[in-house]
Amino acid sequence: MSKLAIHGGSPVKSGSWPKWPQWEKSTLAAVEKVFKSGRWAISSNYSSKSPLREKAFGKAFAEFLGAKYCVPVTSGSASLELAMEALGIGAYDEVILPALTWCADPVAVVDINAVPVFADCDPATLCISPEAVEAAITKKTRAVIAVHLYGSMADVDALLDICRRHKIHLIEDCSHVHGAKWRGKSAGIFGAIGCFSTQHTKLLAAGEGGVTVTNSLELKSRIEQLKSNSRKYIDQPAPGKLEIEWSGEIMGGNYSLTEFQSAILLDRLGRLEEQTLKREDNAKFLDDELSGIPGFEPIMPPDQVTRRAYYYYVVRCDRKYWKGVDTETVRAALAAELAGAAERIYLPLHRSPLFRPLTKKRHYLSKSYIAALKRCAKANLPHSDAAHATCISIPHPVLLSDRKEMQTVVDAFAKVSGAKGELKAK
Ligand SMILES: Cc1ncc(COP(=O)(O)O)c(C=O)c1O
Repeated sequence: MSKLAIHGGSPVKSGSWPKWPQWEKSTLAAVEKVFKSGRWAISSNYSSKSPLREKAFGKAFAEFLGAKYCVPVTSGSASLELAMEALGIGAYDEVILPALTWCADPVAVVDINAVPVFADCDPATLCISPEAVEAAITKKTRAVIAVHLYGSMADVDALLDICRRHKIHLIEDCSHVHGAKWRGKSAGIFGAIGCFSTQHTKLLAAGEGGVTVTNSLELKSRIEQLKSNSRKYIDQPAPGKLEIEWSGEIMGGNYSLTEFQSAILLDRLGRLEEQTLKREDNAKFLDDELSGIPGFEPIMPPDQVTRRAYYYYVVRCDRKYWKGVDTETVRAALAAELAGAAERIYLPLHRSPLFRPLTKKRHYLSKSYIAALKRCAKANLPHSDAAHATCISIPHPVLLSDRKEMQTVVDAFAKVSGAKGELKAK
């Protein structure tokens, strides 16, 4: 076996991986049209010649998912916050969520003055464990946020059952899995509200941006007002007048997507299905090949996932095999072979410097609230800790490569596995 790249040998992968985000001439043309239309925001005057892209994207994305309604917003973070506010969740209400996720989830919870309660993950999927959710429910619980993480999905059947029995809401954070399906139905349409980020690294990307989807007209109307300063769309707008009118049913802030971002999303949505299929096909190839390499075990989505979407492809290092070599060393060796395409997974948020709610004065509501926030850091989440300690992830643009390039991923894992002794000796 040749010398590892991390020790000066030749890397398995030469050149770079597909770039992300991607755009085409049609993307540029769509943005140019917005410039020329003069309608840069939803708060521009109605013109039948230039219908709002935000409305068009909302309709197209709802259709794509099989949801009744979709309200685009400024970010995935905003989608979570507005989803909870639309559901009437607020001060001192408890929201159960995973710690193995991006900080946006608990930050959204504390920013509406609710209390995040971390639940451990299922080690097989890395998503929130239904058993851990049930054990965390109290009289104050109002909702569960299920994050469909990396390339997997939380068990929505079990979570819906728990939520129905306890009369609490399920919110799905689908920021990693645009286009994934659970038993043939799209991620995002199982709970009361589905939330998505369209930030530039995501599978559907507009630089920044977010989306909420729901089958409830009432929730759709509340989110619409929450995101556009208490205003909602008029059914029959008049030329030269605003297309939104004051309502005041629920006070909103400004979380509106620009028309430029909506135009980009509309254009990119046209490529999502094809890209999802390509990533899924390559991920299945990696599943087959990597599971035969000593020391590595791919994280497989549950069987109910009938269409896989991948933000990252995750592989667990077998600690027995890698005894004496830590995960960071294995990751660095893989990254050196693979032009950088090997990363660690999230540090669970009860340990993360990204979740420090008491650094902001707005969170000092009362002694009991401060005590509840302090409890977050003391959560006991052995599976989330173990996942961080053992897993390595490959970013999704790699999965858009052709089969020859995918083989380099397999070859790199095989090379690093075979060089355990070389890594141990250093
Ligand atoms: C799981 C998850 N939820 C929410 C978000 C927040 O999205 P945004 O960055 O668009 O606010 C992210 C972003 O990385 C995420 O990964």
